[in-house]
Amino acid sequence: MDGNGRWAGARGLPRNEGHRQGVENVKSIIKAAKEADLSCLTLFAFSAENWNRPRTEVSALMRLLEHYLKEQAKVLREQKIRLRVLGRTHELPSRVAKLLRRTEEATADYTERTLALALNYGSRTEVVDAMKAYAEAVARGEADPASLDWAEASRYLYSAGLPDPDLVIRTSGEHRVSNFLLLQSAYAEYYFSPKYWPDFGPEDFYAALMDYARRERRFGKTGEQIRRAPQPQTV
Ligand code: FPP
Repeated sequence: MDGNGRWAGARGLPRNEGHRQGVENVKSIIKAAKEADLSCLTLFAFSAENWNRPRTEVSALMRLLEHYLKEQAKVLREQKIRLRVLGRTHELPSRVAKLLRRTEEATADYTERTLALALNYGSRTEVVDAMKAYAEAVARGEADPASLDWAEASRYLYSAGLPDPDLVIRTSGEHRVSNFLLLQSAYAEYYFSPKYWPDFGPEDFYAALMDYARRERRFGKTGEQIRRAPQPQTV
C-alpha cells in the first residue's frame, strides 16, 4: 500500500492525511476482495523498517491502526472474515497488540476468508524467527532436521496455514519487493500500478485481477504442458 505520503504531498496535505485516506481505501479494497470471492487478502501495513520514520508519523500510524481495529472488529465478525497478523506483534504498542490478539481470537473460526495484516513485518525477521522456533523444536526433540522439507519449514513462518499469494500488487509506481513475503511469493505474479494507494480503488483492483487472469503460470513446466492440462489453483 505505497504512496500515502506522496498522495498527501501532491495535495499540500500533511503525510498523516495520506495515511488516513489510505485506511479508507483499505476498507474499500477489503470489500472488493470479498466481492471478487478471494479467500485471502494480505495487506502490508507496517514494515519492520517503518520504525525508522519520524516518531510522530509512527505514532499517528499506530493510532490509525488502533482506531481501525476498534471500528472494524465487529464488521469482520459480521462478514465472517478471519483476521491474521503477520509480524513481530509483541513489539507493537500494547493496546494495538491486545486488540489484534482479541480480534484474531474472535474471528479464528472463519477460515473461508482471511484478511492478513503484515505489521512490524519483514521477510528476513520472519526467517530469523522461524529458524529460532525450529531450533527450539529440535532441542525439545519435536523436530528432526534430517526430515525437514518445505512443507514443514513453512509451518514455522508467520504465515503458517495461509495460502501462498497468487498475485502481489504494489502501488505508487515503485518496482521493488521491499522485504514482503519473499518466500511465500516464490511463484506469485507481480502487478505494479502507478497510482498512489489512496487512489487505487476497486476498479483498479479488479483490473489487476483481470490482468492476473490472463497470465500463464508455468510453475517450472513448459507452456505446452500447462496448456494441455488445467492450471493448478493454489487459492
Ligand atoms: C506507504 O505509504 C504506507 C505505509 C507505510 C502505511 C500504510 C498504513 C496504513 C494505510 C494505515 C494502517 C493500515 C490498516 C490496515 C488500517 P508511504 O507513507 O510510504 O508513502 P510515500 O512512499 O508516498 O511516502
